[in-house]
Amino acid sequence: MRDVHVRLHAGVAIGDTDPRLFGAFVEHLGRCVYGGIYEPEHPTADARGFRQDVLALVRELAPTIMRYPGGNFVSGYNWEDGVGPVANRPKRLDLAWLSTETNEFGTNEFIDWCRLAGTEPMLAVNLGTRGADAARQFLEYCNHPHGTTLSDLRRAHGWDAPHGVKFWCLGNEMDGPWQMHARTAEEYGRIAVETAKMMKWVDPSIELAACGSSGRNMPTFGTWERTVLEHCFDHVEYISLHTYLNNYAGDIPAFLASPDLMDTFIEEVVSIDDSVAAEKRSAKRIMLSFDEWNVWYRTRRNRADRTLPGWPVAPPILEEVYSMADALAFGGACISLLNHADRVKAACLAQLVNVIAPIMTEDGGPAWRQTIFYPFAQMSHFGRGRVLRAEIDSPVYDARYFDPRGEQDLYFPVTAAFLKLAAVQDQNGGLTLFALNRHLTEPMPMTVALTGFTNKTIRAARALHHPDLHATNTRDAPDTVRPTALDGVSIAGDTLRATLPPASWNVIRLG
Ligand code: AHR
Repeated sequence: MRDVHVRLHAGVAIGDTDPRLFGAFVEHLGRCVYGGIYEPEHPTADARGFRQDVLALVRELAPTIMRYPGGNFVSGYNWEDGVGPVANRPKRLDLAWLSTETNEFGTNEFIDWCRLAGTEPMLAVNLGTRGADAARQFLEYCNHPHGTTLSDLRRAHGWDAPHGVKFWCLGNEMDGPWQMHARTAEEYGRIAVETAKMMKWVDPSIELAACGSSGRNMPTFGTWERTVLEHCFDHVEYISLHTYLNNYAGDIPAFLASPDLMDTFIEEVVSIDDSVAAEKRSAKRIMLSFDEWNVWYRTRRNRADRTLPGWPVAPPILEEVYSMADALAFGGACISLLNHADRVKAACLAQLVNVIAPIMTEDGGPAWRQTIFYPFAQMSHFGRGRVLRAEIDSPVYDARYFDPRGEQDLYFPVTAAFLKLAAVQDQNGGLTLFALNRHLTEPMPMTVALTGFTNKTIRAARALHHPDLHATNTRDAPDTVRPTALDGVSIAGDTLRATLPPASWNVIRLG
C-alpha cells in the first residue's frame, strides 16, 4: 500500500471527551447479573455475592458509567421488586428475555457494586408497562435524603445516604415492536416529557436521556427523533442512539467499514437535534447518549425466533464469542465515538459480562477477556482529553454493508478509508493515536506530521493483530488474541512513522 499521511496540529480540536463516553451496561439478561457480576457461591465472591475476579477485570476495563437494569428488561420492571429483604422479593416472568427474574439482585446492590467498581450508576426507568408515577417514586427512593416514606424506606433497607444518581434514561427502545408496551413517537414524546418534568421536580440536579429510535435502520428513524424532541426538547439533556455492528454477510471489508455508518448516524442525529433547536430559536444543544453499542450478530434472534422453554433463571443467552475481526470493527466504533466527542457525551458498551460482553465467566469457574476487551480498555485509559481534528490522506474502498431489520434485507453503501484514526491529547500534553488498518492483507506505512507538539517521545506502541481473523479467546485459551508490541515506530523531527500490520488495531502513545 502507498504511504498513508496524517496531519495533526496541537490545539486544532473536535472537542473534549466527557468521562461518561467510556461507559458500559448491565442488564438483567442471561448471565450478566447472575453468574456475571453476582454469584454468591463463587469462590471469589465477597459477603455481598460480588465476584471479585470479575470486579478486578472490570477495574482493568475501566468503564466510567454503568447503565442498569435494561435494556428491554426495564420495560416490564417494577423497581419495588428489587429492594428490601431478599427473602420477600417476588419472582417474576421476564417477557423480554423469556426468563424468570428472581430479584435477588436489585438497585441497592447495583449501587454498592458500582461504588466498588469505581463507576457511576446510570439508571433507566420503565416507560413501557409503568410510567411517570413509578419513575418519580423510584427517583425519590434513590435520591431523596430522608423524611418521606420512600426515602425512609431506602434508609430502612440499609442505605442511609441517598444514592445521588445523576444520569437517568427515560425508558428503552420505545419504538421497537419487541418492546413491552412500545409506543408511537407522539405517545412516547408525551409520556417522556411528563416523566421528565416530574423527575426534575423531585431532583433538579439530574440529567435525562430521551429514547431515540432503536437503530438507524428502523423505519421510524428520523421522524421519531424529531417528534420526540418537539415534545421533550426543553426537559432533557440527551437523546439516545443504539447500534450493533454485524457481519451476517460474512463480508469482513464491509463489516470493518460499518463504523463509518456509525459516524453518519451520529451526524444525522446531531442535524435533527439542531434543526429542532433552530425551529425553537434555542441556543441549547441536545447531546447524544450512545447508550448501547457493540458488535452483535451470531446470537441475535428476532423475537419470533426466540425459544426458551421453561422460563429458566439466568440462561446462557447472547453469549457472543468475539473474534479478531470483531475486535477490529469494535475498534472502529471506538474511533467513531472519540471523533464525535463534541456531541456524544455518554456511551455504553452493551454489555459488560457474558451477554455480548468483553468479559466472560464460567459459573463457579474463571473469568477471562474477550478480544473486544482490549480496544475498549485502551480507549478508556488513553482516550481521555482533547480529540484532535486529524487530516487523513488514505486510499479508500467501496463496500455494501448488510444490516437487516426484521424481514427486510437492507444494504448500505459505504466508501471507507483503509486508515481510520482518532488522536487524543491528554492534559499533560501527551498524545495517543488510535489507528485501524482495514486492509486485510497489506501492511500500512503511515506518516504523521505533528505540528505544535512539544513532547514527542514514544512511550508505548501496541498492536492487536492475529493472522487468523476468526481467532477468539476462550476459557482454555484466554490469551490467543491480545495486544503485543508494535515495533518500528519512530520519530524524526516533527514526523512520526509506523507500519501498521494488515487488519490491525494500534495504539501509539507519545508524551
Ligand atoms: O443489549 C441487548 C438488547 O439490545 C437490549 O436489551 C435492547 O435495548 C437492545 O435491543
